[in-house]
Amino acid sequence: MSAYEAHFRVWRGDQDGGGLKDFHVEVNDGEVVLDIVHRLQATQAPDLAVRWNCKAGKCGSCSAEVNGRPRLLCMTRMSVFERSETITITPLRAFPVVRDLVTDVSFNYTKAREVPSFVPPEGLGPGEYRMWQEDVGRSQEFRKCIECFLCQDTCHVVRDFEENKESFAGPRFLMRVAELDMHPLDAAAETGLDRKSTAQEEHGLGYCNITKCCTEVCPEQIKITDNALIPLKERAADRKYDPLVWLGNKIRRRGQ
Ligand code: SF4
Ligand code: SF4
Ligand code: FES
Repeated sequence: MSAYEAHFRVWRGDQDGGGLKDFHVEVNDGEVVLDIVHRLQATQAPDLAVRWNCKAGKCGSCSAEVNGRPRLLCMTRMSVFERSETITITPLRAFPVVRDLVTDVSFNYTKAREVPSFVPPEGLGPGEYRMWQEDVGRSQEFRKCIECFLCQDTCHVVRDFEENKESFAGPRFLMRVAELDMHPLDAAAETGLDRKSTAQEEHGLGYCNITKCCTEVCPEQIKITDNALIPLKERAADRKYDPLVWLGNKIRRRGQ
């Protein structure tokens, strides 16, 4: 297969506004969209801003939208598009633009800080933790996350409703709560921290209506909805309607 020229529309601008600019760029066999962005910088738009690091689908920094779909630019092969197709590259829509294809993803770091970290079991020092594979198997999948935030960008709860950002952690961080809640050695409960209740009350689990859009865009193929969010919802509901928990809350309230 030979080189050909493709039509690209690339968003250029900053927080004050911008628009799509047309470019015709050479495409070669085996190239990915990030190669085209680099060629564009080298030949026609030297000041085009794009964030990337590994070009191997592992650092999670080259996230953008290609033809409206959240994707990693370095893992999107040009061969998935027709040669005659116009390819539109825009910044992540759910986050504020810094410049061109670079967005300010600090919303995600704020949400990460809001999830209480792993609580080590009392009496065990580093190196003394022992877990059975069958106990960690369910949550191990979530550790593959590269923090590309494509799931955060695609989730309609924040993508379409800016006002939800304050009370909704988004799929990536609800998955983190689920991971810690499944962790066989997490001692949060012993300190009075109920991760299931906080998922519901502080991280906005109830906003999720299990559309699975987050799962569809995850480049690590993590089954965010089926394996993290739905089980977390089920456990949160079980806890809420557990008669012993209900009785305990009632007694506590009376004693206050
Ligand atoms: S499944 Fe939930 S978290 Fe994922 S995109 Fe849908 S609403 Fe958002
Ligand atoms: S869960 Fe998947 S889509 Fe979301 S941040 Fe992690 S790797 Fe990216
Ligand atoms: S450049 Fe690292 S994931 Fe794309």
